[in-house]
Amino acid sequence: MEYDLLMQKAKEASQKAYCPYSDFPVGACVLAESGKTYCGCNVENASFGLTVCAERNAVFAAIAAGERKIIAVAIYSPKLDDCVPCGACRQVFAEFGGDMDIITETKSYKLSELLPARFGGKWG
Ligand code: THU
Repeated sequence: MEYDLLMQKAKEASQKAYCPYSDFPVGACVLAESGKTYCGCNVENASFGLTVCAERNAVFAAIAAGERKIIAVAIYSPKLDDCVPCGACRQVFAEFGGDMDIITETKSYKLSELLPARFGGKWG
């Protein structure tokens, strides 16, 4: 799949973000091994620590649909060009992603660049 299309879906997902506390909308769209895509947005809570990032919501939607391998993720925020994932989301990607592609509006990364040493396995 074209990563431009994946980014377009991430942009659309960011419009659904529930972020009244941070006013920082994020959308993510993952491409699974099956070729299907799954989107997520950040969902905040008055008890701030319960907030879940867009990236994890996208991965969990894929897993709940029966996917087990993620090939790529596009991440978009209207507030930040290079919206790289937080550390928690990088670890969740490592569970299902192998050395997957991470696409922001301006850059493209391999997960092994953003999480060079991973808990729970090795790259390659
Ligand atoms: N957030 C994400 O959804 N993904 C990121 O990559 C960075 C942070 C959310 C969490 C919170 O709702 C808001 O952005 C501000 O941290």
